[in-house]
Amino acid sequence: MANPEIVIEGRSITRDYTMRTGVFSAPRVIHAVNGVDFAVERGKTLAIVGESGCGKSTLARIITLIDPATSGTLLIEGKPVDIGTQPMTKALRATVQIVFQNPYGSLNPRQKVGDVLMEPLLLNTDTPSAERRERAMAMLQKVGLKTEHFNRYPHMFSGGQRQRIAIARALMLNPRLLVLDEPVSALDLSVQAQVLNLLRDLQEEFNLTYVFISHDLSVVRYLADDVMVMLKGEVVERGSRDQVFSDPRHAYTQKLFAATPVTDVAAIRARVARRATMMQERV
Ligand SMILES: Nc1ncnc2c1ncn2[C@@H]1O[C@H](COP(=O)(O)OP(=O)(O)OP(=O)(O)O)[C@@H](O)[C@H]1O
Ligand SMILES: [Mg+2]
Repeated sequence: MANPEIVIEGRSITRDYTMRTGVFSAPRVIHAVNGVDFAVERGKTLAIVGESGCGKSTLARIITLIDPATSGTLLIEGKPVDIGTQPMTKALRATVQIVFQNPYGSLNPRQKVGDVLMEPLLLNTDTPSAERRERAMAMLQKVGLKTEHFNRYPHMFSGGQRQRIAIARALMLNPRLLVLDEPVSALDLSVQAQVLNLLRDLQEEFNLTYVFISHDLSVVRYLADDVMVMLKGEVVERGSRDQVFSDPRHAYTQKLFAATPVTDVAAIRARVARRATMMQERV
């Protein structure tokens, strides 16, 4: 009998990528996610941490039904879900939503904010137009924006405001689960704090379940109930936040924590600046 309070569960989730390096060489298989187990209770936050390339985003895309797993079982509210074999229903689509790191890339520059928010209702529900508008207006206010922002374009907003828009869009279909893949990593520190507070408030108000992906241990400490540490596609440590922070067991977690002075504001600032440079270089 499934535990009714578990919103999302993964059993031995694996995702392989096959890379062809040349015409004559044998294809190379990357185990991006390799036999990962997890479960998140309703209203709780599971944080996933680990170095770049350890498989966090790959797992995020599986959880949000964007990509299928190569093997393993994903259960949403106790029901097995396999997008590789079963049709994606609108109801299923609505249960899990994702917010990405980059609020610039994830919003269509030609779409007004109001349309961004109403679109999920238009595509997935029969909500009449007047009500779509009303709900989008209400959600704008819930995320700390103003109704006069409704007719503005994304480029007219700051990074923090754009991330608020992305969060609002993700909540329009009343999802049970929100996956947040580095949602504040591209933002200034003070703005990070505001967006994290907003996420906390929204979680409480809507009884939302979060899977929160972050490099930043200070952010994880602020938001997580449970922590899962990944290394090369596998989970090397898991436990409650307090357990993992006060008594990390695995050598990799100890190293990760030692390399990240979570209380050192200067180090956090330096990291934010490094990320900003990296982001610019990518553009
Ligand atoms: N579409 C793809 N095709 C081939 N390999 C991929 C693909 N997506 C990811 N990978 C590989 O899978 C591994 C895990 O990548 P993933 O993006 O999940 O890491 P991550 O933990 O999110 O890293 P980061 O912290 O940099 O965001 C990496 O080795 C990556 O190169
Ligand atoms: Mg990633």
